[in-house]
Amino acid sequence: MAQVLPKRRRVRPGTPSGAAPSVPPPARFPGVAIYLVESRMGRSRRAFLTRLALSKGFSVLDAYSPEVTHVVMEQTSAAEAIAWQEHKAASAPPGWTYPALLDVSWFTESMAVGRPVPVEHRHHLEEALETLAEAAGFEGSEGRLLSFCRAASVLKALPSPITALSQLQGLPHFGAHSSRVVQEVLEYGACEEVERVRCSERYQTMKLFTQIFGVGVKTADQWYREGLRTLDDLRKQPQKLTQQQKIGLQHHQDLATPVQQEEAQALQQLVEAAVQQALPGATVTLTGGFRRGKLQGHDVDFLLTHPQEGQEAGLLPRVMHHLQNQGLILYHLYQHSHFGDPTRKVRQSHTMDFFERNFCIFRLPLPPEAAVGGFQRHCGAWKAVRVDLVVTPISQFPFALLGWTGSKHFERELRCFSRREKGLCLSSHALFDLKQVCCQGLALGRGNTGIWVLGPPSLNGTSIPKTSGAKSGSNPV
Ligand code: UTP
Ligand code: MN
Repeated sequence: MAQVLPKRRRVRPGTPSGAAPSVPPPARFPGVAIYLVESRMGRSRRAFLTRLALSKGFSVLDAYSPEVTHVVMEQTSAAEAIAWQEHKAASAPPGWTYPALLDVSWFTESMAVGRPVPVEHRHHLEEALETLAEAAGFEGSEGRLLSFCRAASVLKALPSPITALSQLQGLPHFGAHSSRVVQEVLEYGACEEVERVRCSERYQTMKLFTQIFGVGVKTADQWYREGLRTLDDLRKQPQKLTQQQKIGLQHHQDLATPVQQEEAQALQQLVEAAVQQALPGATVTLTGGFRRGKLQGHDVDFLLTHPQEGQEAGLLPRVMHHLQNQGLILYHLYQHSHFGDPTRKVRQSHTMDFFERNFCIFRLPLPPEAAVGGFQRHCGAWKAVRVDLVVTPISQFPFALLGWTGSKHFERELRCFSRREKGLCLSSHALFDLKQVCCQGLALGRGNTGIWVLGPPSLNGTSIPKTSGAKSGSNPV
């Protein structure tokens, strides 16, 4: 929008300050009381802007007071603006609501249209909080990650977007830090801290590295500390890479391209066909983000089971065999079930489970008519797609389905709620009462998993049999 205000004029000595006429015309916009901050703006420009606003029927207050709803500043950084407001707030009466801190562009746009324009937040507030959550995760700060995730989730759950800081009042999980981020985004369109994080070499490198198949935060952090920054840096040091990571790098471009819903459906058909060949009656369930209705994802997650308990034993190797015979598998990493394995060191993680699985990269054939970036794909084109195939006995299927549907944050909160509010332990295997398990574990001995399902009546009070599956360490395909 074109600037409607004249350029700054030189201050003539003796020009009166304030410049609000002694009897201003009646305000046309009762909900709006403007205060123009003189520092940076200058006294004469402030006087000019005040006259302009008054002539258009705006209420402009000469002194800062609780009546002020819109504070207008010029050439002021978000940090300075907030410091200014904190200073003012120190002497504010209790229960006082913060006015909007605005750049002069809000003022000029409002003057141009002759009414107050809505205060826009050009960037999504959730995005800003999620960036900080992600960055906290990169630093291993679980507490901060959780705080920002929770604040972002609260915003997502609201029926309408937040447009003023006062709307945060009474919302759970909004501490000082998250509130400050929201305030800056609302008033300046961006938050300095978030922008600084986004542009930082650390954040960008960690994001790049953790996106690689087989690379977690720990490895990415180590590479960063060794001075590695780009994918080419990694390619030059193959001795640092596992086989999985090498494959991840090789297919990085495809794997970093979001998987589309239609691609997930096409994969489901391929997996279903292989499963039917391997074991008629076995089922394939699409889970993860696509089950939640997401249109895109970073991978595709499938749960495999059979309605008859125990029949799922040996299913996965046979499925893989059929898929491989069709040339659909570029890579797979098999992990046997380690349910009830007392030698296995339990890693404390909310997503931890013990199912037999295959972390795969599929070679998904693309239909020739699929146009990508305006180009027709040539015949035989394909795309590398990450797929997780997870096998569950039918008795644990409901819990596995709940656990794998996500989102990660939802699962974490649900498990936390079960434990704290209900005294129950929820996992992808069962929902159980810890006290009961302790007693039963003693009574049943080592050979039994000792997990008691509080689920469907048929399962109530019966222990889950050990997950069947391939033997430890074997890679059957
Ligand atoms: P994903 O990481 O695939 O996330 O885990 P998503 O929600 O599908 O989103 P995309 O793929 O990034 O688009 C799916 C769910 O499976 C659980 C996670 O907690 C998440 O809720 N999960 C994942 C497990 O239970 N165990 C695992 O080993 C991995
Ligand atoms: Mn997924």
